[in-house]
Amino acid sequence: MNETLESVAATLVAEGKGILAADESVSTLTRRFDALGIQSTEQSRRAYREMLFTTRGAAEFISGAILYDETIRQKSSDGMPLAQVLSRQGIVPGIKVDTGAEPLAGAPEETVTEGLDGLRDRLAEYHGMGARFAKWRAVIRVTPNLPSPACVSANAHALARYAALCQERQLVPIVEPEVLMNGAHTIERCEQVTGKVLHAVFDALFEQGVSLEAMLLKPNMVIAGTECPRPASVQEVASATLRCLRRHVPVAVPGVIFLSGGQTDRMATAHLNAINRLPGPKPWKISFSYGRALQDAAMAAWRGRAGNLSAAQHAFYHRARCNGAATLGEYTEEMEAVPAELGSPLHCLDWQHD
Ligand code: 13P
Repeated sequence: MNETLESVAATLVAEGKGILAADESVSTLTRRFDALGIQSTEQSRRAYREMLFTTRGAAEFISGAILYDETIRQKSSDGMPLAQVLSRQGIVPGIKVDTGAEPLAGAPEETVTEGLDGLRDRLAEYHGMGARFAKWRAVIRVTPNLPSPACVSANAHALARYAALCQERQLVPIVEPEVLMNGAHTIERCEQVTGKVLHAVFDALFEQGVSLEAMLLKPNMVIAGTECPRPASVQEVASATLRCLRRHVPVAVPGVIFLSGGQTDRMATAHLNAINRLPGPKPWKISFSYGRALQDAAMAAWRGRAGNLSAAQHAFYHRARCNGAATLGEYTEEMEAVPAELGSPLHCLDWQHD
């Protein structure tokens, strides 16, 4: 049973490729549109996602794309379901299945991610619509006193139950415990909290019988908080991140795909590249599943106008290409200066629906 799941997981972390996280909820995407003066309607959100998904040659660097519920039900301007637009191009469609982070009872500053009720049936429906992997994001806040043990264990337990249900329903779970970078904490504190959270998550995955070979881990990088007076260098981030992963992520996991978490797009690329260049054992594929760091430049270029389509697609293709190079440790500053020509025309064939 896990053979198919393992081959999907391997496809998602194929050489030189990573994942596009385009699963912003309506309210999150509206917030990002608002900042650029783009009106958020069902139609404009559809047009935006269609712009990303029809970028020629994106599949050279993008293996999969995570959709939101609204998006997986939408069709392109010529009537093809957006999930199929992706799979025709050689990109595996995925789906965000949590219903968001809600206040944790008894812990007013913390959240637990919800969405387990009815999940088995929703997963079956999404599989029928072409999704082959899923995502669930837990959010862990850092202060001098947080996270609480209750927050870590509640989120780890929910992630593990989600992952077990996904595997039962033939979807590869992306397990995303995000330690937020908001705050004044040091990189050392981030490493300590990230290690503790990963330990709890893998403990819960073991308890729920999740097959590690048939999942992907989507962690934060180990990084100083945004308000920390002592920011960490690229090399420090790379070393601390890899050390933390080596201590806490079993070798059986096929891939570690980072979130960008609010880093600038170039920083997220530089960090990924530096991690992949470090010497010593890296038993998992190390790649990206970026949202903002892949989309920010493209969204700013697009601004909701059809006339900006080509500029926006060039911006998206460029970031995808830089991050693809970073998964191989081959990214250079010089790449930023070279405007990318779009790749070969839409092609299919790497990936087929079964
Ligand atoms: P960012 O890369 O913008 O953090 O988004 C990744 C993601 O999917 C968060 O759940």
